Amino acid sequence: MDCSSTLTLSPSTGAFFLFLLVASNLLTFFLTSSPSTFSFTTTTTAAATMAPDTDTGESISVDSEGDETSPTISDLPPEFLAATSPQKLPLGYNPNFGSDTIYAPVGHPCILFPEELNKYMSYEINGSCPDDELLAQRLLLKGCEPLPRRRCRPAAPPDYIEPLPLPDSLWSIPSDKSVVWTAYSCKDYSCLVNRSHNQEGFSDCKDCFELGGREKFRWITQGHGLDFSIDEVLATKKPGTLRIGLDLGGGTGTFAIRMREKNVTIVTTSMNLNGPFNSFIASRGVIPLFLSVSQRLPFFDNTLDILHSMHVLNNWIPKKLLHFMLFDIYRVLRPGGLFWLDHFFCLEEQLEEAYVPMIETVGFKKVKWVTGWKLDRGPDMREMYLSALLEKPLKKSW
Ligand SMILES: *[C@@H]1O[C@H](CO)[C@@H](O)[C@H](O)[C@H]1NC(C)=O
Ligand SMILES: *[C@@H]1O[C@H](CO)[C@@H](O)[C@H](O)[C@H]1NC(C)=O
Ligand SMILES: *[C@@H]1O[C@H](CO)[C@@H](O)[C@H](O)[C@H]1NC(C)=O
Repeated sequence: MDCSSTLTLSPSTGAFFLFLLVASNLLTFFLTSSPSTFSFTTTTTAAATMAPDTDTGESISVDSEGDETSPTISDLPPEFLAATSPQKLPLGYNPNFGSDTIYAPVGHPCILFPEELNKYMSYEINGSCPDDELLAQRLLLKGCEPLPRRRCRPAAPPDYIEPLPLPDSLWSIPSDKSVVWTAYSCKDYSCLVNRSHNQEGFSDCKDCFELGGREKFRWITQGHGLDFSIDEVLATKKPGTLRIGLDLGGGTGTFAIRMREKNVTIVTTSMNLNGPFNSFIASRGVIPLFLSVSQRLPFFDNTLDILHSMHVLNNWIPKKLLHFMLFDIYRVLRPGGLFWLDHFFCLEEQLEEAYVPMIETVGFKKVKWVTGWKLDRGPDMREMYLSALLEKPLKKSW
């Protein structure tokens, strides 16, 4: 690594930020305030160096028609520029890329939140990252996803305890010393386990950490009504042909663990919403994926055998986003693959007017389709559940 090189902000860097702007709503702002010139001022050229104290001001102009100057982006942190600026490939033009330059991807809304981005990207290079999980997750959930990479070491528990060996890890609460608790209101697992009994109000996946409770019986008892069992879902396909898949918003990873017992490998996406869900899933011995619902699924087309989702696809998701998600789920499932939509919920009239037509347009075949009242908040709420088992057609799926 060349530690002494200095990043020079060239017109192509300017073009990069022009691209970022085009991709964001900021463009509107810039267009209305300055019709002809985009100017980018950065406060440093030290972005790519190991000594960020060599600040010198520098300003780039991307002249379209050449007039007077205009708003500047002086808030972008140097490490953000370092992480996202174009990098020349050391071996030159790469025919696979069709380019001699590589750009690190970062969520285009990142620059809409300069204050948080500044906090997130302020650290000592090659030092310890700030203990800022909450800030990072908020930034990510707002759309700065993927987050920019950082050149620092993440906070870790001072006396880290390694996970239990398999198979004990699958159904055990790991050591409190395996987690950095700063971001959560609970400061140990016993608090999380007791949460469903002691805590008033809403918490995501409130009883999920209580492995001896309801969690123990999900998907394994004889299916009835809205509750399908894993056995009956697996039985819809030839034995052994459902092998790999994804649990979207999978809480503490119990679905993946139950599927593991059937020799099906499941990766679980989860956020850490007031609980160390990712650490917990990993401690149990299955794979967590820290990915929000906004992100394109990181799988190639036509690859997964099964995708399960419970309690995350609901009416809290903007309808257009949900429509894109459903097509993304369809995309990653292989022909003949299954989408197990588990306890989707919304208001009664929304189901008929919006969600059923939306789900039906995507092109899945209905294998099972059950609706029922959701009564936990009382019948007056007129909320309904839909549980469905949907199959991507084997032929002519496009
Ligand atoms: C980076 O940090 C490591 C660990 O603290 C240290 O051993 C190393 O010398 C540092 N490297 C530089 C270039 O500062
Ligand atoms: C959780 O509940 C158990 C058993 O009721 C109790 O022993 C423990 O102290 C509780 N822990 C917390 C943090 O509330
Ligand atoms: C899972 O695989 C193991 C090892 O191949 C085998 O012994 C076991 O019967 C399989 N279990 C199921 C449910 O298919």
